[in-house]
Amino acid sequence: MADPRPRVWVSQPLFDEVVEQLGQHFQLEMTHAVTRYTPAQLAERLAGVDGAPITLNERIGAAEIANAPRLRAIANVGVGYNNLDVEALSSAGILASNTPDVLTETTADLGFALLMATARRITEAERWLREGQWGQWSFQTLLGADIHGSTLGILGMGRIGQGIARRGALGFGMRVLYHNRSRLPEATEAEVGAQYVDLDTLLAQADHLVLVLPYNASSHHIIDAAALAKMKPTATLVNIARGGIVDEAALAAALANGGLAAAGLDVFEGEPTVRPALLALRNVVLTPHIGSASQATRRAMVQLAVDNLTAALDAGPQAGDPPSALNAQAVADARRARAGVGGKDIDDAKR
Ligand code: DGY
Repeated sequence: MADPRPRVWVSQPLFDEVVEQLGQHFQLEMTHAVTRYTPAQLAERLAGVDGAPITLNERIGAAEIANAPRLRAIANVGVGYNNLDVEALSSAGILASNTPDVLTETTADLGFALLMATARRITEAERWLREGQWGQWSFQTLLGADIHGSTLGILGMGRIGQGIARRGALGFGMRVLYHNRSRLPEATEAEVGAQYVDLDTLLAQADHLVLVLPYNASSHHIIDAAALAKMKPTATLVNIARGGIVDEAALAAALANGGLAAAGLDVFEGEPTVRPALLALRNVVLTPHIGSASQATRRAMVQLAVDNLTAALDAGPQAGDPPSALNAQAVADARRARAGVGGKDIDDAKR
């Protein structure tokens, strides 16, 4: 007899021992090697399943779900979800979820590590040493910028931004300025030690600017040539959000011509491809999108995705109520509308 349990496809290797919990409720199709999918391959994989935990590598929009009548849940293993067309998923009655909170402190740690490596020229110094250039200790070799007592600018003040603010204000005695779509409540500003300013003031006053805002149409290239020109030539820029927030060609030019002292980049517009102009520069610290990459946090992210998926597919203790759904209301509305208008298909197929 055919296995009646819902089917779940796991798009990438994600700590098998955590993912295998899904096997209590669902038939599992695991992926054991890191895989790059074409849109057609994604559509094919999603066609026969009820749910899938996926990563930022998988871009899922209307085309990828067009032939997926059983699909009810997509669990993004990551907090950023610019790889999902949430509107398309909502209209199709598919619950989308992400993994906030569990990665906040780990990602803030990485942001601060990049800030320090960039300001104090750590990777450049190591390369110089390994290249055998250290003939004699000298007083003015590899001078960087101070972190303690400087002005930290944070663009985007969600949970990770607040974590970076705390580290700067409480740990390093920095003056912390931030800009965000909406201002934080005064009590939160006081708790994280940050002061709200407009974008131009942030750009002009930051000694170190960290980007932590979500990527969408309004944040695309928000740091362009004009924004970079407003920054101090001695300033450093750190991006741990998404590559598309920065116009990388303009950044490479500013770094090459003295418009900006240095940059630390964990994310890239065309990742995993990195722009050759950035690779050629010494005053850039480059890491391969490892913001949340600690053992404990990556496991916690997968666990949360498993919990989201289990609940979204109506199994487990939180059935029907994923802990971090992105579109619960929109999906409920879409399912109701489709049940009302088109009859029973959405009720049967998507429950
Ligand atoms: C996220 O969660 O959005 C990160 O970029 C992936 O680790």
